Amino acid sequence: MKTLVPPIKCQGIKTKLVPIIKQSALFSSDGTWIEPFCGSCVVALNVRPEKAMLADVNKHIIAFYQAIQNGTVTPSIVRAFLEDEGARLSRQGEAYYYEVRTRFNEAGHPLDFLFLSRACFNGVMRFNRSGKFNVPFCHKPDRFSPAYITKIVNQVRAFADVARTREWQFVVADFRDTLAHARSGDFVYVDPPYAGRHVDYYNSWTIGDENVLIASLKNLPCKFLLSTWQGNRHRTNQSIQEHWSAEGFSIDTFEHFYHVGATEDLRNAMIEACIANYPLPAAGQALAAHIRRRERSVQQFTLGFEEVG
Ligand SMILES: C[S@@+](CC[C@H](N)C(=O)[O-])C[C@H]1O[C@@H](n2cnc3c(N)ncnc32)[C@H](O)[C@@H]1O
Repeated sequence: MKTLVPPIKCQGIKTKLVPIIKQSALFSSDGTWIEPFCGSCVVALNVRPEKAMLADVNKHIIAFYQAIQNGTVTPSIVRAFLEDEGARLSRQGEAYYYEVRTRFNEAGHPLDFLFLSRACFNGVMRFNRSGKFNVPFCHKPDRFSPAYITKIVNQVRAFADVARTREWQFVVADFRDTLAHARSGDFVYVDPPYAGRHVDYYNSWTIGDENVLIASLKNLPCKFLLSTWQGNRHRTNQSIQEHWSAEGFSIDTFEHFYHVGATEDLRNAMIEACIANYPLPAAGQALAAHIRRRERSVQQFTLGFEEVG
């Protein structure tokens, strides 16, 4: 089945890893799918559980999805908004992008958030120390072409169709509070920031956070799948060996090429790891090998850095 792409992007978005995550998640549909670091929500959007708790500390992400769910942001509202704002961007150029950015940083409207997410440089989502969105313009005043607007509207519609017909709860919460909700029979998918990699207001991830997360995962009353990094050409994640080599946990690794990022380093290949407190299915490992081969061949032809979707 084709992977559905969400309307907003964030660093570390798992769009390309969705098939592996879906194959690897041992989720029973009776329980609640819990994501303490939901980000763009691409994983839940594709797993499509009946019941979900989707949480993140980033209040703008949560407000955006709540607005889609409660119908304050609809596909037709998005179309009208982007046509109008896109036309202003075409006329006024860069200055208009910064006007919307200031407006968003004062009022935090979900539609402005969508506009910035789709018109900012490299499609990154970054907030400064005061929690203000600070990504510069992508330098494309005609960004919101009719085809691009239709693509975004379709992504909003697909998300609304899924989120409005299911028991999904979007919450602004620290992972500690979210994990406290897990019960036997639930499934927890965990995708924390990678320490020292994407540091901003909502991603200030420390070794202390990492240690609390590891201890909490080990005490969960249900199954979990953790996405983390195993290494790149510069460094290796020592914590995998240290914390997850014991019996009862399984580890799968595969190479992934990140297309979203402000620097060359962030766009490089990363060896990703999936860690679970149950045996990871062989199907997931076969798929990982297939994706690894496909990504290698794509890299040979990739000259631009735009995120797919
Ligand atoms: C790697 S991203 C998740 C990406 C997501 N799986 C996707 O595919 O789009 C990590 C997310 O964790 C959130 N975050 C950072 N610190 C957090 C914390 N202490 N508690 C909950 N969420 C946190 C960030 O706002 C960010 O959205």
